[in-house]
Amino acid sequence: MKDYELPLDIEEVAFSHIPVLSREVVEGLAVLPNGHYLDATVGGGGHSRLILESAPDVRLTAVDQDEDALAAAKKELAVFEKRVQFIHGNFAVCEFPQNTFNGILADLGVSSHHLDTPERGFSFRREARLDMRMDRRQSLTAADVINDWDEVELANIFFKYGEERLSRRIARRIVEKRPFQTTTELATAIASSVPAKYRHGRIHPATRVFQALRIAVNDELKVLETFITKAPNALVPGGRIAIISFHSLEDRIVKHGLRDSPLLNVLTKKPITAQEEEITNNPRARSAKLRIAERKRLATLY
Ligand SMILES: C[S@@+](CC[C@H](N)C(=O)[O-])C[C@H]1O[C@@H](n2cnc3c(N)ncnc32)[C@H](O)[C@@H]1O
Repeated sequence: MKDYELPLDIEEVAFSHIPVLSREVVEGLAVLPNGHYLDATVGGGGHSRLILESAPDVRLTAVDQDEDALAAAKKELAVFEKRVQFIHGNFAVCEFPQNTFNGILADLGVSSHHLDTPERGFSFRREARLDMRMDRRQSLTAADVINDWDEVELANIFFKYGEERLSRRIARRIVEKRPFQTTTELATAIASSVPAKYRHGRIHPATRVFQALRIAVNDELKVLETFITKAPNALVPGGRIAIISFHSLEDRIVKHGLRDSPLLNVLTKKPITAQEEEITNNPRARSAKLRIAERKRLATLY
């Protein structure tokens, strides 16, 4: 079988301890001694560690909706003891205290832990039940979406969240062939539903559908919108928010959300992207876009 190029935001390393755009994040947040920071996507704790190390007596609140990530972060950050507080939850649902944080970071997407653990069902390369939940307390799984949603709904999410041009054709084939139990059964059906030239293209033909499914299962775009609306209130005046996104759908929400917030001044006219050297060491950095904004100092809120 052809060794397909791996899709950027699905298959590449994410939960490694090589945090993406780390220098740019730490500089962009302008971390202060005694500052209190929120890492809304602590993952393996890579960025959090850097924030905690970049000034004396920094405190950090670390959030992740995946309990495995949180367990890994607890180990990674144990040395900071009581300076770190952990919260298991979705960043869109957490009620963050107002006027509290000197900086907030969100490094969006899945972790390599998700991808490297076949039973989580994120990867079409490994046989597993169709799951894809970042938070396993939630009931909706990828199997529910694939087996229960109607053809039009499936075509719509493949098109909207996967930017898949063959969305209708793939949705029709899935509906004909379902139910599906596993990631690999689904990937094979998708591959067989597309023209041969697509099957031998640069990326595996299931790439976009898997991205779309993941976004749908975790409602990723909606939670990002909610987070960007709520998070600025949690900053102190002059506090900064930094968000790293990995595909254009997310970046659009970040760009508009920061710009349209009455509480924020955007500091990055254009998104910050990784230097060649970082991309060589960490291929996931290739698609990363970092945008930063600062809470207005004068309370011109209304
Ligand atoms: C790319 S990883 C973060 C890596 C981290 N910055 C590091 O340096 O190790 C993204 C993490 O965000 C978590 N996540 C994604 N969406 C979330 C949400 N809505 N609420 C809370 N955590 C979320 C995922 O579970 C994953 O662990």
